[in-house]
Formats: sequence, structure tokens, C-alpha cells
Amino acid sequence: MDLDLDTVPMGRTGLEVSEIAFGTWRFGRETAAGNLEISRERGHDLLDTYEAAGGRFIDTANVYGGGVSEEWIGEWMEERNRDEFVIASKIFGSTREDDPNAGGLNRKHVRNQIDVMLDRLGTDYLDVLYIHRWDESTAARELMRTLNSLVEDGKVHYLGASTGRPNGWRIARANEIARQHGWVPFTVTQPRYSLVNREIEAEYMELCRERDIGIAPWSPLAQGFLTGKYERDADMPDDSTASDSDRWEENYLTETNFDVLDEVRDVAEEVGATEAQVALAYQLHHADVTAPIVGARTTDQLEENLRAATVSLSDEQFERLEASKADPYADI
Ligand SMILES: NC(=O)c1ccc[n+]([C@@H]2O[C@H](COP(=O)([O-])OP(=O)(O)OC[C@H]3O[C@@H](n4cnc5c(N)ncnc54)[C@H](OP(=O)(O)O)[C@@H]3O)[C@@H](O)[C@H]2O)c1
Repeated sequence: MDLDLDTVPMGRTGLEVSEIAFGTWRFGRETAAGNLEISRERGHDLLDTYEAAGGRFIDTANVYGGGVSEEWIGEWMEERNRDEFVIASKIFGSTREDDPNAGGLNRKHVRNQIDVMLDRLGTDYLDVLYIHRWDESTAARELMRTLNSLVEDGKVHYLGASTGRPNGWRIARANEIARQHGWVPFTVTQPRYSLVNREIEAEYMELCRERDIGIAPWSPLAQGFLTGKYERDADMPDDSTASDSDRWEENYLTETNFDVLDEVRDVAEEVGATEAQVALAYQLHHADVTAPIVGARTTDQLEENLRAATVSLSDEQFERLEASKADPYADI
């Protein structure tokens, strides 16, 4: 692919990551309707495409595809120099039904899982380990002590917090505890963020800016909505797995979101790009965003998305996109 993605600093860690990360949530994933989103072969093709564009920042989690996402990445990595890639994974979700200790962030689960994950990925270390969600039953002090021990053991280089709800205070509290004890803090976050999901702008983004914490947004295309393939009052397109998912239509196909999409379309026309590229370019131009984590089900989609790196937006276009959602904090 005639593209060479740039790198950007991940907060103040000194680590450089690709300006667009590639997410592997859909590897081996079955939709609610029972359809496989991405097979092993397709997954490897997608990784080839990402690599050919200069991409080196891969995102996975121990529960993606029940573990096959990490496994397929590990197989693909066998023929490559692992050190040239930045691999991020996550821990939280349950890995054994009916076993209360096989999920969450208790030390038993975290220390057990890290070895399982490294084994699947065929590596000695993770560049970034995110907590996938906060665990209400594990005290922040206990969690940060456990995570710090993984860094001291050399199994993890950097710690991250991936979040569902944008509760920045938890990150601030955990990092303060880490600071008091001389432990490693969270230096990167992974919240939901897209032009139609703006809740992190309320205060979470400010926290990350103030504390030099990187932001790698998940679902930057609003799980496909911002690609422009959905229309008001039209049937769901055939080339989409979104309709297989619980509540996707209810969450995304709203009038407010279509208003945002109208502005994305206008800008796309002006700059000669696609809607997906403009939605991603918005994030690439955003001073607080480190690297959006793009998803794609086909190599064509991925190529289109990666070319967002070539799209230039004027300040005026950026501001129009920013202003396109009537109430950015409505989802909180
Ligand atoms: N930390 C967390 O809790 C969390 C949660 C979610 C995701 N993530 C991470 O974020 C990554 C990205 O999430 P995501 O897959 O939801 O991202 P996304 O980029 O918002 O959506 C990806 C989906 O949109 C559709 N699509 C993408 N590009 C397209 C294009 N150019 N044209 C038409 N359709 C296109 C495809 O689905 P269809 O073809 O089926 O329409 C694709 O699977 C994940 O892989 C994962 O690494 C993390």
C-alpha cells in the first residue's frame, strides 16, 4: 500500500506509536445473530494490510474472540520482528464461567491472565496492558500494586485504563496512589470517542491533557455509523454486521447522529475524501487524541480508513465538525 503512517508520542512516555492503531475486537467474534465477523485468514490479511501501510500499533484483549484474537496475532507475529510492533492488550472480562476469581482485576486473575496472554501472543512482554474496565470489588491500591509488579517483572511496559463510562476521577485517584508509593501510573487511556460519542470531552479529556496521558479512542467510526453507509429511513445495508448486534440501531441511528453525519458528508465532499476518512481525520487533527483505534471487517475498508492519514482539514472544517453535535455530553 502506498502509505507510510507516521508515529506520534504516547503521552510523555517517550514511546512512539502509529498515528492510527488497528483494533482486533472482531477477530473470531460472533455477532448476536451468530455470524462470524472476522475469520483467522481474514484477520491475517487485515494485519498484512495494516503492516503494509506502516502500521505498528495493534490493539487486542484477552477476551476478544474468547482468546483467538491474541492467538491469531501471535501466529502472524511469528514471521515478524516482534520488537518493531507496539502490542496492547486488556484484562477484566471473565475467562471461566461460574468462577468468581476468573474475571475482574483481583491479583490472582491478573497474574494468571498475563501469562496466558503472553503465551498466546508468543511474546515475553506487552507494550501496553490496559484494565478493560474498572472492578468495583478490587481496591485501587491493591490494583495498582498488582499492575506495578507486572511492570517490575518485565511482563508489561506501560499501563493503560480502558473505560466504558468516562469516569476520569478513577484514573486520577489510581495515579495519585501510584505516585504516593512510587508505582507506575496509567499513562494511556482507551475511552469510547467519535464525532457522535463525545462524553469524554466533559472532563476526562482535560484530565488526560493536564496529566500528559495518551488517549487511544475505541470505535472512532461509531461502529460503522460514521462511514456513511446508513441513511435516514432506509433499510440496513447488506454489507454491515451492525444490525446483528443488540441495540445498535437504537443507539446509533438517531436524528442527532444523522445531523452530525450531514456535516461529515459536506466536509468529505469539500476535501475529496470519504465520510469514514473525515471522521478519522477529525481525530488525527485533535490535539488531545493520540491514535484512534480503527476497526475494519475487510481489507478494502481498512485501506480506506488508513488513508485518513492523508486527509487535511482546515481549522474551519475541524470546528464545523466539532460543532456538529448539538449536545456533545448527552450520552453521559
Ligand atoms: N476498550 C473497549 O472497551 C473497546 C470497545 C470497543 C472497541 N474497542 C477497540 O476499538 C477497535 C475498533 O472498534 P470498532 O470495530 O467498533 O471500530 P469502528 O472503526 O468504529 O467500527 C468498525 C466497523 O465499522 C464498519 N466499517 C469500518 N470501516 C468501514 C468502511 N470504510 N466502510 C464501511 N464500513 C466500515 C465495519 O463493520 P461492518 O462492515 O459490519 O459494518 C467495521 O467492523 C476494536 O477492534 C477494539 O480494539 C475497545
